[in-house]
Amino acid sequence: MESEAVSGVDPHAVVRRTEPSGLANGRPGVVLAGPHLAGPEAVFLRLAPRVQQGEERLRALVGSDVDVVEAVGRYLVVAGGKRLRPMLTVLGAGTVGFRGDLAGLMCVAELIHLGSLLHDDVVDGAELRRGRLAAHKVYGNAATILTGDFCLARAVLLAAEAGGHRAVTELARAVTAMAEGEVLQLQRAGNLDTTLDAYLEMVDKKSAALIAWAAAAGAYAAGREREAVALERFGRGVGVAFQITDDVLDYADGTGKRVGADLRERKLTLPLVHAMERIPGLRERLIAAAPTEAELPGLVAEVRESGALDAALVEAHRRVEDALGCLEILPAGPDRDALAVLGTYLVERAS
Ligand code: IPE
Ligand code: IPE
Ligand code: MG
Ligand code: MG
Repeated sequence: MESEAVSGVDPHAVVRRTEPSGLANGRPGVVLAGPHLAGPEAVFLRLAPRVQQGEERLRALVGSDVDVVEAVGRYLVVAGGKRLRPMLTVLGAGTVGFRGDLAGLMCVAELIHLGSLLHDDVVDGAELRRGRLAAHKVYGNAATILTGDFCLARAVLLAAEAGGHRAVTELARAVTAMAEGEVLQLQRAGNLDTTLDAYLEMVDKKSAALIAWAAAAGAYAAGREREAVALERFGRGVGVAFQITDDVLDYADGTGKRVGADLRERKLTLPLVHAMERIPGLRERLIAAAPTEAELPGLVAEVRESGALDAALVEAHRRVEDALGCLEILPAGPDRDALAVLGTYLVERAS
């Protein structure tokens, strides 16, 4: 059942996003940037049948008798996304031999993610998401927030059905952390004296907690405690690195989001910490006022040229390296290997 059709992959080719569903030709809707393409490309191909099953389930799960709820949910689902969390669930579940409803289990974290994106774009006043207008720009804040709640609740129900008690309690913990992380970020926006530790705490809560759950979901469901702890630690490590990369990609074109959105809000991110160390007077300029629309492109260029992005990526890579060590206690095999490849891809991605 698993595709072996990876031998024809050109490791130096750049795969461009061709369609937004994220599943064209069995490839997730990602743009691969580095020279080490055989790794993630091979993993995506191998996972394609599973991801396709999950995709069909996901579309059914955002269905509702209430038209607006279904419209908002579908709007975000069909816009694409990389489906990284479902892939982590499939691989983590594979390492412990999970035998239950895998298509269901893999949709749980994606549904939580969808709900959090609907909420996040309202909170951040974001204009673009997944290459389209953000849902609140089309459907308004109220319908978007309430559909976000719907996605979260659907996910909890599904976690109980597909994963059982432990999976659902851990999920509740992860979602609690996400809400706290989002509020912490909101509270600290514009405060450029926020410490690095405070940034890392916020990132751990808002992004890594759910990624950790996604990796460990199958182990929770299968009652494999030792493996659950290892997969959680792995997920937390790569999850922090993933968010550092997301913060670096704030300065990149082609992400489907607006360039410089975090900078405009003066959010303290790791790349900005490095930029303020490298660019004389930047901290004072940002403390004095948020950049205007006219100033933003020049400021983005300054940060890109300062070396701050590379410095942040070095830190992301270091965290992934540490996280890979957590996989050692898992049974050796293709799923464990693929987790390592996917973990590395989380920080090498270009969108
Ligand atoms: C974006 O997540 C939001 C964060 C937690 C940083 P992704 O980069 O996984 O978004 P999609 O699902 O691919 O759109
Ligand atoms: C998103 O964080 C985290 C959650 C949705 C919980 P960001 O605000 O940094 O992510 P993007 O850049 O909008 O995707
Ligand atoms: Mg945001
Ligand atoms: Mg946000």
